[in-house]
Amino acid sequence: MKAHIVTLPGDGVGPEVTAAAVAVLKTIAARCEHVFTFDEQLIGGAAIDATGAPLPTESLAACQRADAVLLGAVGGPKWSDPNAPVRPEQGLLALRAALGVYANLRPLQVHPALADLSPLKNDKLKHVDVLFVRELTGGAYFGVKTRSEDAATDECKYTVAEIERVVRRAFDLGRDRRRHVTSVDKANVLETSRLWRSTVQRIAADYPDVTVEHQLVDSMAMLLLTQPNRYDVVVTENLFGDILTDEAAALAGSLGLLPSASLGDGRRGLYEPIHGSAPDIAGQGVANPVGAILSAALLLRHSLGLEVEAVAIESAVEQVLRHGPHSRDIGGHAGTDEVCDAVLAAIESHADSAAAFFCGARACG
Ligand code: NAD
Ligand code: IPM
Ligand code: MN
Repeated sequence: MKAHIVTLPGDGVGPEVTAAAVAVLKTIAARCEHVFTFDEQLIGGAAIDATGAPLPTESLAACQRADAVLLGAVGGPKWSDPNAPVRPEQGLLALRAALGVYANLRPLQVHPALADLSPLKNDKLKHVDVLFVRELTGGAYFGVKTRSEDAATDECKYTVAEIERVVRRAFDLGRDRRRHVTSVDKANVLETSRLWRSTVQRIAADYPDVTVEHQLVDSMAMLLLTQPNRYDVVVTENLFGDILTDEAAALAGSLGLLPSASLGDGRRGLYEPIHGSAPDIAGQGVANPVGAILSAALLLRHSLGLEVEAVAIESAVEQVLRHGPHSRDIGGHAGTDEVCDAVLAAIESHADSAAAFFCGARACG
């Protein structure tokens, strides 16, 4: 198949991990004779430095023409002056809004080989397999902001339509999993959360085969640590989802491991690791590329419908996490390129030993 992919490496470790994800996509393309074209564009601090804008018109137009967008990370100390007129993060938020990618899928699994890195005892980590569905284009991130000398506000607003579409996506995804949806809110305090909860309750009636549970976000933050294997799909609003998924990453062993897919109503999606630009390790070639590489697998699955190729990447990563090499954040000494090369080699050997499986029902070529 042919696909056009826009890459937005961004700032800090963004370019380092994006290069690894692109190398993986190129290997998959060569192995299964897909034709992927890549177009690199500016976003974030790099875009501010080059053009003054965190999401230049040309970058956005390229993304809107693409089949899928692969992003590294944005931001960093250079652009973090609280009085700066523009910030890198504004580019990412504008992109998510413009692409209409309201559902941010953040899968969490704990690899047994890494369980010792988690702050939790090993027995709590068995069978952890959670899909967070974070609302991505509403809430406090996008409300009206005000600022005076001695006060500031961030409006948090949700419409029923905004809640309904992401909640339906969560229930639909739950049907292909263990059929349990946990909705997280703060309905004991926030009006937006009461609207969220009543909308979830109404939609749940359309999914009698899926069980639904409501948790308050403060309690959920605790439950994620005490009973992480109780959860299947967790759906929540933008800010709660941001915070809970960084917490979840600690269970996996490192923020560098978790991928994400941001989806709207069409097939075009935005794919990025959940971590940021990691300024403390940027430029050293030591960032963990796994979150970015697994985001490329999600791109193949959700935007291109290439399930077998997505699984090939995920199996290769699984093998590398099992046997090494490991990057520093997960206790090893390998650099980004060494981990990436190991994933590429695992894909190649998988392809050689199981060509029929690797190319699936499709004829290669
Ligand atoms: P961060 O995610 O960049 O880093 C937090 C910690 O995790 C750091 O110690 C870092 O070294 C480590 N880490 C992150 N990714 C890693 C990887 N791939 N391999 C190994 N270690 C990794 O969060 P932060 O320091 O709070 O934020 C830095 C900047 O990134 C800020 O400007 C923030 O706005 C931005 N940010 C961007 C995104 C995004 O682009 N999607 C996401 C989060 C934060
Ligand atoms: C993330 C990041 C972003 C967010 C920032 C950089 C705007 O933390 O993708 O998780 O809060 O959504
Ligand atoms: Mn975040």
